[in-house]
Amino acid sequence: MGKNIVILGSQWGDEGKGKIVDLLTERVQGVVRFQGGHNAGHTLVVDGKKTVLHLLPSGILHPGVSCMIGNGVVLSLAELQKEITLLEDSGVAVRSQLKISGACPLLMPYHVALDLARETKRGMRLIGTTGRGIGPAYEDKVARRSIRFADLLDVDHFSELLKENLEYHNFMLKNYFMTSTFDYAAVYEETLTLGNNLLSMIADVPQLIATHRRRGDSLLFEGAQGTFLDIDHGTYPYVTSSNTTAGGACTGSGLGPRYINYILGITKAYTTRVGSGPFPTELIGPLGDALVELGQEFGATTGRRRRCGWFDAVAMRRASEINSLSGLCITKLDVLDTFDTIQIAVAYEEGRQTIDGRTPIKPIYEEMPGWKTSIVGIDSWSKLPEKAKAYVKRIENLLEVPVAMVSTGPDRRNTIELAPIF
Ligand code: GDP
Ligand code: IMO
Ligand code: MG
Repeated sequence: MGKNIVILGSQWGDEGKGKIVDLLTERVQGVVRFQGGHNAGHTLVVDGKKTVLHLLPSGILHPGVSCMIGNGVVLSLAELQKEITLLEDSGVAVRSQLKISGACPLLMPYHVALDLARETKRGMRLIGTTGRGIGPAYEDKVARRSIRFADLLDVDHFSELLKENLEYHNFMLKNYFMTSTFDYAAVYEETLTLGNNLLSMIADVPQLIATHRRRGDSLLFEGAQGTFLDIDHGTYPYVTSSNTTAGGACTGSGLGPRYINYILGITKAYTTRVGSGPFPTELIGPLGDALVELGQEFGATTGRRRRCGWFDAVAMRRASEINSLSGLCITKLDVLDTFDTIQIAVAYEEGRQTIDGRTPIKPIYEEMPGWKTSIVGIDSWSKLPEKAKAYVKRIENLLEVPVAMVSTGPDRRNTIELAPIF
């Protein structure tokens, strides 16, 4: 029997999802992206060679594995085309592996302009978005005015939709945001040209998933962003515009909820966040700077410096509950190699369980001794120093979720497997 495995971020994104999806792709027949868009930046390192993916599923480097972009993803044709060309130039047969749902809402150039204009308007209260147009693209989806990928199959229909959309958005851009507008003919031409190049990959993704299941294949469902960036369960309004939590894997792909076999939560051994919003365990000062430096915490999409802090077991317990995590993968454990002591937030003052964003939260920390030796690249549990093992086990105890994997470096091979996922 095949297995359907959901892999998602349990913090604020950039937990190392790409690396783990790439690694586990060895054991599956397909990988599905189900939400987000090219705001994601998933880094894969294979034999020292780094690849950053934004829209393509992180299974794409494995020849013959089917890669699917589900209906929950907002699709920028221009960005997809760029990414495909880049990978094809380095010898990856993207087109023969990739299938794209016709129900994907298109992320259009005016969405990017709206995203940037909104951020400017918010001033000091800006979200700190990736500036990729994600929010406005999802707004159009929910407002039922999106142009979807399949709409490009009927040129007249597309033309009509584009006119309606431009009439509306140009009005806002011009009169509300007082910025430049978009020319119908130019957007029409550009979109159709890109569409003609990409439409050969259109597919009924729910049907493909069903076929895989009947065949006994295993599939990975690759989350983007992280639990606390979820539009419903995250630190609203400092969130992204999609459901990043486990339920999103079903709605964003067409996988029936009963067919999920395992939900793997990826978490860093500490915490990071890019953009604005509450972050209870954030370290401002030399310790935070050390984490940025040691962990090379700069965004894979925008290059922004990531905010860093200690592991937050309170937030993680909530992430575990919301996602019904089957197991954990702790990444970047090696980044803590040089610390004398390591802190874990085990509670919040006043016994709070949630981060509402309005009142500052003071975490209560527990201190653990550092292991003070390099664990980079260690690939078996028995070779880890006792103090590193104790840290991993403490996280497991606090969260009551088994640790299935530990990552000790960016490369595919720098991984310890502790419990079976398949
Ligand atoms: P994603 O968005 O969840 O896929 O994560 P990103 O790719 O944005 O960020 C994770 C970064 O950490 C990437 O640069 C990875 O190459 C790197 N990385 C992943 N796992 C490890 C690890 O165990 N140790 C170290 N040092 N780096 C890692
Ligand atoms: P991966 O998949 C980290 C953050 C942005 C901002 C907020 C909203 O690589 O983990 P958006 O552009 O989505 O409207 O921005 O969400 N954000 C991410 N942070 N990793 C990501 O993706 C992110 N995608 C969006 O920084 O705070
Ligand atoms: Mg990332």
